[in-house]
Amino acid sequence: MLDGNPRLNLASFVTTWMEPECDKLMTDSMNKNYVNMEEYPVTTDFQNRCVNMIAHLFNAPLGETETAVGVGTVGSSEAIMLAGLAFKRKWQNKKRAEGKSVDKPNIVTGANVQLCWKKFAKYLEVELKEVNLRDGYYVMDPVKAVEMVDENTICVAAILGSTLNGEFEDVKLLKDLLVEKNKQTGWDTPIHVDAASGGFIAPFIYPELEWDFRLPLVKSINVSGHKYGLVYAGIEWNIWRSKEDIPEELIFHINYLGADQPTFTLNFSKVPLNNTIWFESSYWSVLSIYSAWLRGISKHNDELQRQCNGAQRRIGEAGKFNIVSKDIGVPLVAFSLKDNSRHEASEMPR
Ligand SMILES: Cc1ncc(COP(=O)(O)O)c(C=O)c1O
Repeated sequence: MLDGNPRLNLASFVTTWMEPECDKLMTDSMNKNYVNMEEYPVTTDFQNRCVNMIAHLFNAPLGETETAVGVGTVGSSEAIMLAGLAFKRKWQNKKRAEGKSVDKPNIVTGANVQLCWKKFAKYLEVELKEVNLRDGYYVMDPVKAVEMVDENTICVAAILGSTLNGEFEDVKLLKDLLVEKNKQTGWDTPIHVDAASGGFIAPFIYPELEWDFRLPLVKSINVSGHKYGLVYAGIEWNIWRSKEDIPEELIFHINYLGADQPTFTLNFSKVPLNNTIWFESSYWSVLSIYSAWLRGISKHNDELQRQCNGAQRRIGEAGKFNIVSKDIGVPLVAFSLKDNSRHEASEMPR
């Protein structure tokens, strides 16, 4: 009880309630180490089916019998580390083949990126070139982003569902401008979409919006199960457009547990190690998201949108706040105090 009630936590974008059947499914599976694919082949099958479902949801250009390329991770941060690493290595391989320096890779993002991108840049020694935000415009401006691209840019990272206000960045415009720049310069700078929040929203609420693998320069996309994928914290994915987008040398092949097993993740075992980190185990999350999807993510999204509209209307009616979330974005309400009401926050609508 001392840690409060997660259902009242409105700030961290993370699922705090699942159906009792899902809770049971997870507790029943807690003692299994899902990395042991020989031992738990059905779980492996669930994992692969999740990757395939998401790749199709994101319009990956897959043939009838082709298998999608992706990994399940413990968070979007891990997914982004892997995606960024693949971009960096691809860029290095290309530069080395051209006899050019690989000393100064950079990545272009908006200044609104989530902390994990700053971690990626620092840990993997890539310069983070951030497009500044401006008053009233809190996402990456594609025009400015493309201006900042140079021959050492490993990719431009766009966000579908900014952490600050839920807004979708204009990935289509970014793609158009980047295609033009690539044509003029001879570079082939790609795009990653951080769809941690928006990846399970856009395909259902805005199916016509082009932000995913329909755009040819989009080479990888991360999406979070625990944000709008209906599961508790602990499962995310990164999906690649094709297997050519992961340099072969990053994939390890191991046979500790029986058959050959290719792996491209930061962590190996996925088991609850102790009480504080048991939530990080992905085994049960894979099972739970599969089950949750079968129950209808789409219906859930409509309800979220309805509640979001209602909350936004009531907050707007109070007359004391500026709404800074946008009509198109993840279903959340972000608002700021109007200047003249700074001292009246205690009068917020309940
Ligand atoms: C846009 C975005 N990307 C990445 C992350 C990091 O996700 P995780 O907490 O799963 O590592 C977040 C978390 O809030 C986010 O909002």
